Amino acid sequence: MIMKKVLVTHPLPGTRIHDLSSHCNELVWRGSGLMPASTLREELADCQGLICMLTDRLSADVLACAPQLEFVSSMSVGVDHVDVPVLSARGIALGNTPGVLVDTTADLAFALLLAAARRVPEADNFVRQGKWSEHNAWSPEFFAGKDVSGATLGLVGLGAISQAVARRAAGFGMDVLAWNRTARHVANVRNVILDEVLERSDFISVHVALAPDTRNLISAARIAQMKPGAVLINTARGGIVDERALAEALLGGHLYAAGVDVFEREPLTADNPLLELSNVVLAPHIGSATQITRARMADLAVDNALAALAGQPMPHCVNPEVYKS
Ligand code: DGY
Repeated sequence: MIMKKVLVTHPLPGTRIHDLSSHCNELVWRGSGLMPASTLREELADCQGLICMLTDRLSADVLACAPQLEFVSSMSVGVDHVDVPVLSARGIALGNTPGVLVDTTADLAFALLLAAARRVPEADNFVRQGKWSEHNAWSPEFFAGKDVSGATLGLVGLGAISQAVARRAAGFGMDVLAWNRTARHVANVRNVILDEVLERSDFISVHVALAPDTRNLISAARIAQMKPGAVLINTARGGIVDERALAEALLGGHLYAAGVDVFEREPLTADNPLLELSNVVLAPHIGSATQITRARMADLAVDNALAALAGQPMPHCVNPEVYKS
């Protein structure tokens, strides 16, 4: 029997990857860094399956180079790097890895919230740079930050990660408001309209997927609507928040601080205005980055691929309509 060829764009952690080679002819990219787009195109030419990362951009052009493709399994929950309509039109199933990264990502959102509110990176730099001296030891205003306990947290989107952030907020005695396209009933969370989230929250955390209707959702106008002195956290996706408007609001003092893990262009380019600001805590898209969570994500991605290789529906399929035809 001829085995199908499956390209894996990065060596994977977890245990399930060891099962893959007995079910297909796997090709694991072992180059340094990210797989170049040109290599992805070349390698896809004769592949029936693909296990990819969120850094592999599967545009219509790239997919056109993969005439034999039967399935794609992305080691990510977000699939904004993939042209899903093109896959669906060709009947190609797309798998993702939801669920396992919920708490890990919520932890990072809360870590950024606390770090931004209490100026932790700024304080760390201050000490390391030898600025903490006898003349500058303590004063009532010294590194005075923003209170988290008892503050109002506004959630933009109320999916699983957002709900996990709300649970953490409950431990800090926060009042939690949320906007979601369709209201969801979650303990200790009040559903309100987006305007109210923006206008009433001391902290706003973004938790919607990047899609055509959420691109630039947190626009300059919506940032202007935010309560003066608010803190914005984004662990969802770049492209949802207008980064230039955010930088201006942080520089001009309308917003107190921000914590950002995801960017319009990743890796961040040297001209990104957020890099200049000390009141923004930056992270390199590490929301799901713990060893256990990454291994679980990899295992789910392999399970999706194994199901597809066995001719079964993927356990986590983004476009299940492909199974109906
Ligand atoms: C995802 O899986 O989409 C996350 O952004 C990874 O951290």
